[in-house]
Amino acid sequence: MAIAFEEAKVTVPSVLSAKGERKLTMLTAYDYTFARLADAAGVDMLLVGDSLGMVVQGADNTLAVTMDEMVYHTRLVCRGRERALVVGDMPFLSYQVSPTDAVMNAGRFIKEAGCEAVKLEGGVHMAETIDRLVSIDIPVVGHIGLTPQSVHRMGGHKVQGKRAGDAPGSRARLLKDAKAVEQAGAFALVIEGVPADLATEITDTVSIPTIGIGAGVGCDGQVLVMHDVLGLEQRFSPRFAKRYGELGAAAVSAMSAFVCEVREQSFPTPAHSFSSPRPVKRKRAS
Ligand code: KIV
Repeated sequence: MAIAFEEAKVTVPSVLSAKGERKLTMLTAYDYTFARLADAAGVDMLLVGDSLGMVVQGADNTLAVTMDEMVYHTRLVCRGRERALVVGDMPFLSYQVSPTDAVMNAGRFIKEAGCEAVKLEGGVHMAETIDRLVSIDIPVVGHIGLTPQSVHRMGGHKVQGKRAGDAPGSRARLLKDAKAVEQAGAFALVIEGVPADLATEITDTVSIPTIGIGAGVGCDGQVLVMHDVLGLEQRFSPRFAKRYGELGAAAVSAMSAFVCEVREQSFPTPAHSFSSPRPVKRKRAS
């Protein structure tokens, strides 16, 4: 089912003004082909997520993804979109060492890849870094809750915000993290893997749009990993992700049909082949 969507180019101000007006959509994308398809489907924001470490590179977590890899994939995505806003995801250690590093690496996303914004994980402790980026007009999306770059602290990709107290990942800390990200100047906030009531409370507390993943329906928008939505990921599908298609199965079926036809020599047919030009008959001289 195709639905009508706003045609105008999505921009940072239009994302900000969507809060309370309409729900925002974000999908991950990692290359030109799928960026084009998502753009044609009317997705508002394309996130070149460091989840590419898992769904494209086959790793168990996102930690090994490099800046060069992110810049490369973000450039491909930018080539494929017309309307959507493209957000480059800052990989592990590209922004944690110092705000100066963050500026250099976020600048690479904007300058070399051509995207319009960057995303980084963390709350209170990343406020200074977000502030530095925003002060030089690099728009930032924050990311709190289940932050995959903290996988070892969390002991796995586990739901956050269930505990009391003020430790990282606790309910009170996540509320502080959200406020810190907003006050530092981020224009949107991804909330991942937290109880729905907490995500709703955060959404009601901050003035910037929240984009939820595994965070319930109360957020201002939703983000999912493209491979989950399309049913491309065969190994594992998180509980919060909905498979809207089974393209993985469709791809295996198309490729096995190719294998069969080549083996039984029913492909290529003459319609898929070229013939040599016919020899031109010369008229005999009389
Ligand atoms: O890397 C990613 O794909 C993400 C989303 C899950 C929000 O950070």
